[in-house]
Amino acid sequence: MNTPDIDSAVLQRNARPDPGTVWTRRSFLHRSLLKGTAGAAAYGFLPLINTLDLAYGQAGQSFRFAWVSDTHLYPKDVNTRFVEKAVRAFKEVQAMNPPADFLIFGGDLAQLGDPVELRLGADLLNEVKIKKVFIPGEHDWYLDMGAIWNKTFGATPWTFDHKGVRIIGLDTVSHAPDFWTSRKYSAKERMGHMSILDGTLGGAWSAVGEKQLRYLSSTLSNWPKDQPVIIFTHTPLYEYYPAWNFWVRDWKAVQELLAPWTNVTNVHGHVHQPLYNEIGKLRSIGMLATSWPWPYAPDGVPTLTRPMLRADPGDHFDGVGWGSESVNANGKVDTEYKMWRKTVFGDNDWDSGTGDNRNQVLSPRIADRL
Ligand SMILES: [Fe+2]
Ligand SMILES: [Fe+2]
Repeated sequence: MNTPDIDSAVLQRNARPDPGTVWTRRSFLHRSLLKGTAGAAAYGFLPLINTLDLAYGQAGQSFRFAWVSDTHLYPKDVNTRFVEKAVRAFKEVQAMNPPADFLIFGGDLAQLGDPVELRLGADLLNEVKIKKVFIPGEHDWYLDMGAIWNKTFGATPWTFDHKGVRIIGLDTVSHAPDFWTSRKYSAKERMGHMSILDGTLGGAWSAVGEKQLRYLSSTLSNWPKDQPVIIFTHTPLYEYYPAWNFWVRDWKAVQELLAPWTNVTNVHGHVHQPLYNEIGKLRSIGMLATSWPWPYAPDGVPTLTRPMLRADPGDHFDGVGWGSESVNANGKVDTEYKMWRKTVFGDNDWDSGTGDNRNQVLSPRIADRL
């Protein structure tokens, strides 16, 4: 797909998201949503380590949704620490007041795609009574190639419109090159190889794929170019760190396709860390996991991101959590990272969000380095 047209669409070196967009990022503390429970007593404050405000120009209506992902549940007889954290997140989502309009579960519900893990996750999700939508992670998929996932949580991709925003869920995990058949691997061996961070055998497994590119193109074809679009994916739609599949390998085709829309926000999981980045007119927000924090990649951390303070290794609730997005009637969106941290060791009024045009240097893309 290396045509000059694609290059000119993707290599928009000076392109930025909708110029009406204003971002600020603040750090502060707020009280747990859960009052009087054991969890809240132990972790009395939920620091919102970053609040991201962006103007959505013509959104006009307010709503809030919650994001939970990367719970990585093991069966309860193996351990319960990941279960405890998933339970806590779902309780807090259910306790949101006013309630969120919907919950997006962003993938990696299970650790090894085990039916026991997926059933446990489905049971825990029953705690959340609001509307729920789902996209898969690689840990949910590679034992049975998505059979239980699709049966339990429905197929991806999907689209719905909510109060002036077109919302799209994509599956970026089911496109691994077949490394298992010729090696005669069992389903468990295949899943095992897909569950490790560097993905040596799985290779560049993360992609949107031709079929979903066509879907994306058709579902956006009747959507005005300046109207807000939110795309949920497990892996980021840009090339943050390919060695860990912190990307989609067809990012170039994705970004070319999305280039005409000026107000596209990709919210993703998989990286288990707060991230913010802009690639041309596309902005991407990486969300917390409830399970564990991954380290920041050794290369390619977007300049716009302020890495979270390192997690306390003695506290398995530290460095993890969930998030919510509030789309306000005045056209702003707050991204709130609800990190379960007892003590904040440092604070910052703001960092180099996009409001800081004086000093800001956008992250170079792979395309810009070519
Ligand atoms: Fe994950
Ligand atoms: Fe993942």
